[in-house]
Amino acid sequence: MEDLTERVAFVTGAASGIGFAMASCFAKEGARVVLADIEVGALRHAEQELRSAGADVVGVQCDVSSRDSVAAAARNAVEMFGKIHILCNNAGVAPAGPLDESTPEDWQWCLGVNLMGVVHGIQLIVPGIKAHGEGGHVVNTASVIGLVAPPEIGIYAATKYAVVGISETLHAELAPFGIGVSVLCPSFVNTRLHEGYRNRPAALGREPDEPNAIMAAQLASGSDPQVIGERVVRGIKRGDLYILPHSDFKMGFKGRANAILEAFDE
Ligand SMILES: NC(=O)c1ccc[n+]([C@@H]2O[C@H](COP(=O)([O-])OP(=O)(O)OC[C@H]3O[C@@H](n4cnc5c(N)ncnc54)[C@H](O)[C@@H]3O)[C@@H](O)[C@H]2O)c1
Repeated sequence: MEDLTERVAFVTGAASGIGFAMASCFAKEGARVVLADIEVGALRHAEQELRSAGADVVGVQCDVSSRDSVAAAARNAVEMFGKIHILCNNAGVAPAGPLDESTPEDWQWCLGVNLMGVVHGIQLIVPGIKAHGEGGHVVNTASVIGLVAPPEIGIYAATKYAVVGISETLHAELAPFGIGVSVLCPSFVNTRLHEGYRNRPAALGREPDEPNAIMAAQLASGSDPQVIGERVVRGIKRGDLYILPHSDFKMGFKGRANAILEAFDE
């Protein structure tokens, strides 16, 4: 998709961080944007900020872990803008800690948002993109943690590896329909990801004993989300499958790939 003008983008997790930056970059390209997020206050703020910059945007509250909620948000989006061309399955959370200390609720929360959120977007929005026949693009936000899996981030890695695999499959499945697919795998980006517990449902509740200072420092040292939004626009225009804005995990990935290649020959 070379021109985003008048295209309609549906971005989950759009009230903050990378999602907000993608929405703002799409709007600068002349797209109309549906901001879908679970956090109502932040959503209203994001909507106002983009509107005051002249963007044609609308905010819809949406919990991506709920199929019904995504279905309702998608219906709202189509009622307001007619159709959707660009789907960004971006909402995500990042529980950290050793796997043997993780709880069933940690898994339910992270799989619900990071994995089922992507699945719901694909199942409920992609058929409409196919049906209107004007082409489109799906961007799934994974992470470099979908390519290499360091310690203490195992649940997150499970979901992000899954999102990379789903994206590779979807890329092949949607190519005949003129619909591109990208998987976004950033390293550290300066967002509120380390404060993700703010949106954890009470029923799955377990606040960390103290804020994750290591993750907070890593994110604070990371890229401006706006830079990632611009890379995503470029990736959509070029039809890139992999959008890898950072190279700091490149050697780690190479080590993993080499170890796997060697294991094939043993
Ligand atoms: N920040 C990084 O360093 C980094 C690196 C790689 C990948 N990512 C990925 O980028 C994506 C965006 O995260 P971010 O860094 O911008 O964090 P963020 O916390 O700033 O933004 C995440 C957004 O998702 C929303 N959200 C959370 N649960 C939701 C739900 N159930 N339904 C709908 N919305 C929900 C939040 O309200 C928030 O607006 C995530 O998928 C994350 O895993 C982030």
